[in-house]
Amino acid sequence: MGGHDEKDKWIVRSEEGTGETFDTILARRLSRREVLKSATVASSVAIIGSLGLGAETVAAQRTTTPRFGTVTPTAPEFDDVKVPEGYYARTLIRWGEPLSADAPVHNVWEQSAAAQSQQFGYNCDFIGYLPLPLGSNASNRGLLVVNHEYTNEELMFPAYDPKNPTRTQVDVGIAAHGVSVVEIQRAADGTWSYVRNSPYNRRITGETPIRISGPAAGHPWLMTSEDPSGTTVRGTLNNCAGGKTPWGTVLTAEENFHQYFGNFGKFDKNDVRYAVHRRYGMPAEQSERGWELYHSRFDVAKEPNEGFRHGWMVEVDPYDPTMTPVKRTALGRFRHEAATIGLAPDGRVVAYMGDDAVFEYVYKFISAGKYNPRDRAANMNLLDEGTLYVARFNEDGSGEWLPLVFGQGPLTRENGFGSQAEVLINTRRAADLLGATKMDRPEDVEPNPINKKIYVALTNNTQRGTEGRAGTDAANPRARNSTGHIIEITETDNNYASPTFKWEMFILAGLPSDASTFFAGFDKSKVSPIGAPDNVAFDNAGNLWIATDGAARAIKYNDGLFAVPVQGAQRGNVQQFFSTVAGSEVCGPEFTPDNRTLFLAIQHPGEGGTFEAPISTWPDRVGLPRPSVITIQGFDNRVIGS
Ligand code: FEO
Ligand code: CA
Ligand code: CA
Repeated sequence: MGGHDEKDKWIVRSEEGTGETFDTILARRLSRREVLKSATVASSVAIIGSLGLGAETVAAQRTTTPRFGTVTPTAPEFDDVKVPEGYYARTLIRWGEPLSADAPVHNVWEQSAAAQSQQFGYNCDFIGYLPLPLGSNASNRGLLVVNHEYTNEELMFPAYDPKNPTRTQVDVGIAAHGVSVVEIQRAADGTWSYVRNSPYNRRITGETPIRISGPAAGHPWLMTSEDPSGTTVRGTLNNCAGGKTPWGTVLTAEENFHQYFGNFGKFDKNDVRYAVHRRYGMPAEQSERGWELYHSRFDVAKEPNEGFRHGWMVEVDPYDPTMTPVKRTALGRFRHEAATIGLAPDGRVVAYMGDDAVFEYVYKFISAGKYNPRDRAANMNLLDEGTLYVARFNEDGSGEWLPLVFGQGPLTRENGFGSQAEVLINTRRAADLLGATKMDRPEDVEPNPINKKIYVALTNNTQRGTEGRAGTDAANPRARNSTGHIIEITETDNNYASPTFKWEMFILAGLPSDASTFFAGFDKSKVSPIGAPDNVAFDNAGNLWIATDGAARAIKYNDGLFAVPVQGAQRGNVQQFFSTVAGSEVCGPEFTPDNRTLFLAIQHPGEGGTFEAPISTWPDRVGLPRPSVITIQGFDNRVIGS
């Protein structure tokens, strides 16, 4: 797309009001910020002192502002990626590419579940780069752990009839979900490729046996006719984003798991489990993909407990291809977007998480045990024991982490909880009772390793302030919030394990011409339009990188990737680095340790079209669009954004 004239064509004023003026929001934030300023400076000095960081680490904390030629946003029908001048993008791996020697090459006319379960899955989302060998910092060889959130059957199969899917279509769909682990390497000329038949390559699908661990394992509600022990479940579904642990495993998040279950409408309303399924939004009739037509475990009327075995965080050790993945119930059950890890000064592990649905919550889990950098095996079950907390964001910029502990506060038998297992299985209701703050769809919640602050991406909530729904509050200040926002949390003493925090608004996303937007006080005439923040990442200088999902609807541009400094004079200066193809969202963002390669997942390219009438042919330029992971590098192998 061309210059500003064309761009302006797409600028439409948000029709959705804000409930209060931007000036009011800004005035409130500034008064809070003045109060916080001195405290924050003092505490970061204290933290550097207390961790005993040397001069070298302190120097690395200096802000390096990203520098690149800002990408002009593209119109929603524009079907190609865009990167800044001096950079190039390449497709690394696409849906259907074989991961093993004997896996067939993808053939859209002859798909089978057996083939798909050895091929790269559909709708890649999270990307974790884990260096090879384990413990190294290699930026030229590693394992890519990519999850596959969902399937677009209308783009995968000819003549697909959603009411009457065939058995093959259903089974290919189940096999296209889950996780891929794939070895990748960078050649001397800079070209990345995946290693077919690497012993590390692995597919985890909707059929793979997964162990259930933690306080809810073995609870009667987790028992089914197939698994009377309630400790092993088939498959992980709707894996959205995730995170990496300091011990080299990956956490992958089960998000909209409810959509795979059918016939909840036939379930007994007087059963105590009814209200739990209802709180999690089980569909009343046939599910979207109709898997229950061939697999009774997806039929709530026949197997009422199977749904309780989904909606968890799953831990995978990519360095051990024989490892049985584990659902960690201590981290709660909700529509998990991701889990990202920070270490408390005393070594306890803190996992930050969001429940991605309108009016849902932000959580953190603090492990009981401590991370041991010298004993990998000792860390493997750290996420089974600890305390789950939910966030309350107060009007005055303070906040509290409220513990979800059976027997404490309202989480008692009188309120229907029989054990900690039931608090975890019904996390949402426990959080309701504690009075947590209902947020505008919490997506990634991620600690910045450089400044120790936590960034909460809230993608949108067009129901905020509408008839019968919650109105605005300080942390969710816009009614009918179609463009989303980002909150910055500072834990007390910069300790991730603190029970209290301060927070402030970092970005109110949207078109800069929209009076309700805010870019940390930065000059709005100089920033890129951005809508619907979803996944975030940090470069080695601590700059925030934001991938979006839903900009085409929110601001009439394709989704993209944006860089923004979080400190110094450029704080809030959002600049677009990448623009994606028609119908897709951008996921992943992941850097190699040297920051010279950026991986992105292009999820659901061409969504909105069908097999017969595609709106995208990316990336092959013939046939169907294919969800793919791409690499972005500088022609001179520069550090991305330098
Ligand atoms: Fe699957 Fe919350 O995005
Ligand atoms: Ca997401
Ligand atoms: Ca999303």
